[in-house]
Amino acid sequence: MTRVKPQSAPRRPSPGFVSPPGEPGGLGPGEERLREVLDAGLERVESQLAADVKFADDFADVTTTYLLNAGGKRMRPMLTLLAAQFGEQPDHDDVFTAASAVELTHLASLYHDDVMDEADLRRGVTAAHLNWTNSVAILAGDLLFARSSRLFARLGQRAIELQSSTFERLVLGQLRETIGPRDDHDPVDHYIQVLADKTGALIASAAQFGVLASRGPEAYVDALEAYGERVGVAFQIADDVIDLSPYAEDTGKRAGTDLRAGVETLPVLLLAKRAETDAASADLLDRIRTRVAGTEPASDDPEIAAIVEELREHPVTAQTRDEAQRWAALALDALAPVKAGVVKHALERFAEDVVARDR
Ligand code: IPE
Ligand code: IPE
Ligand code: MG
Ligand code: MG
Repeated sequence: MTRVKPQSAPRRPSPGFVSPPGEPGGLGPGEERLREVLDAGLERVESQLAADVKFADDFADVTTTYLLNAGGKRMRPMLTLLAAQFGEQPDHDDVFTAASAVELTHLASLYHDDVMDEADLRRGVTAAHLNWTNSVAILAGDLLFARSSRLFARLGQRAIELQSSTFERLVLGQLRETIGPRDDHDPVDHYIQVLADKTGALIASAAQFGVLASRGPEAYVDALEAYGERVGVAFQIADDVIDLSPYAEDTGKRAGTDLRAGVETLPVLLLAKRAETDAASADLLDRIRTRVAGTEPASDDPEIAAIVEELREHPVTAQTRDEAQRWAALALDALAPVKAGVVKHALERFAEDVVARDR
């Protein structure tokens, strides 16, 4: 049975990828200083976000603040702040505007995503479309996209171009996920491209905006784009494993939401490959497609929970975890042009942590 405990307080972000002082492998005082900077920066982003989601309508405000206040890891603004440490002006107002605007794009996408995925839980609370209606959730997302664009407009032409190409990729990724691969396209390759677009592009831009807004080295913009996109793919693959977790109070989401919505995530795609030669895999795949896909998101049917658990214990889930690790390692490779030091070390930890996460 799925265990659900709505979060009583928002999950506060914490820069856990900066080693605690004295931890083996930590870099000492430099890291301690970085942790303080990030903690203070995240507080400032939080105040900015609270101000940025106010609209000229009380009902609009209730809907747009709903998921903002429900929690969230704030990993994208964290990445912006971290990348901004490479710049000449890491405290420039533009850094915080960019960090908030990137999070608002993400937040908006969650409202829309839960409508598309028919999800019932988000950040530990009832999804917005169930709290109100699909129309309200879609419009709340649109308002947040609009506000995010307005913030980016303050940062100038280059930021607008980066934001619009990012947004385009995010939407194309969602569209291609919805439509599925063409007959001549390998389903796993198609899926990885979907992840790079729907998730990687925004995480990449979060990092790039940090460098741009802080007036950082131009050469780092491309390096952090490649890094962020690969981190995004690793992150989203890890999310596929999280979708199989029965601990909704940790994940803030219902187990098997993707499978119920008929979204074939990496474990299922790998299972489909094995099913070509392995009868047990073919049987599990058949039950996922006939018994799980299309069921009510809130259904606590024990048969569904058992099928989700069987997939979680199947070797394809370990293979999925390995694939996430491989993308995290590729992300580290992309940091080759970046100078060694506490910030690079934190970026490396960040990439490793996104695949080790359980929420
Ligand atoms: C959820 O992103 C959507 C994905 C791209 C997987 P997060 O896992 O960053 O969601 P929050 O912001 O912490 O709720
Ligand atoms: C999240 O994708 C939405 C975007 C990246 C735009 P998913 O549907 O895979 O993520 P969760 O599991 O609902 O957070
Ligand atoms: Mg979803
Ligand atoms: Mg989705």
